[in-house]
Amino acid sequence: MLITKDLSAGYGKTVILRNINIEVHPGEIVAIIGRNGVGKTTLIKSVIGLIKPLIGNIYFKDHKITSLEAYKRARLGIGYVPQGRGIFPKLSVEENLLIGKLINSHSNINQNKSPQSAYSYFPRLQERQSQKAETMSGGEQSMLAIARALIGQPDLLLLDEPSEGVQPNVVAQIGSIIEQINREIELTVLLVEQNLDLIQHIAHRCYVMDKGNIVASLERSELADQQQLIKFLAI
Ligand SMILES: Nc1ncnc2c1ncn2[C@@H]1O[C@H](COP(=O)(O)OP(=O)(O)OP(=O)(O)O)[C@@H](O)[C@H]1O
Ligand SMILES: [Mg+2]
Repeated sequence: MLITKDLSAGYGKTVILRNINIEVHPGEIVAIIGRNGVGKTTLIKSVIGLIKPLIGNIYFKDHKITSLEAYKRARLGIGYVPQGRGIFPKLSVEENLLIGKLINSHSNINQNKSPQSAYSYFPRLQERQSQKAETMSGGEQSMLAIARALIGQPDLLLLDEPSEGVQPNVVAQIGSIIEQINREIELTVLLVEQNLDLIQHIAHRCYVMDKGNIVASLERSELADQQQLIKFLAI
């Protein structure tokens, strides 16, 4: 579903990503782990089109999207939950979801899709429809950001550290919901995470990044050993 081929990217003259080759297949939950500052967010931003690659290509559902504008990538079916969540703090839960419908819609979307469909996965949000987003807990804000991306009915959802600033028991809940959505509607997920419990719980495979490179690719069976994962994060 998603392939990056020899992708290099950065900011101005600073090269951050070098020769990134990853693949995400339909229906998979693939994680990317790596220490702070190794380029995980830069990779996600390259995939959604906020950063132009210097070298290499990105393919999504057989389209070469390397030079495509970000909004066209969203229309093709790439959903995105940014690090820090990017919700509108002064707007209510419902208003945030309606904006999600406007900005994330892609061409095949069922136009009747409403916040109701998101509430079915996140009942806590339904209880708080009129609450201002800024007054919600970190976990609820993370749920809102995910729900807002889901309203666009993406085929691939990119999540950049959804567990950041979220209590451990709520991280587990969010993980279970992601897994449920993956199972029920076969949503493909590319997840940047530093929370190893979450990765072990939901990821089918994992790439390890260090200094702008992919340095390891781990299968599900290799994710069970948390000590091994910790070693990768301590490269
Ligand atoms: N807008 C920018 N302009 C210049 N350099 C940037 C910019 N954004 C990020 N960088 C640099 O790119 C490198 C990779 O940053 P990136 O945010 O991709 O890392 P990360 O792995 O997501 O880190 P974290 O785990 O802290 O979120 C860092 O050295 C960072 O300082
Ligand atoms: Mg980041």
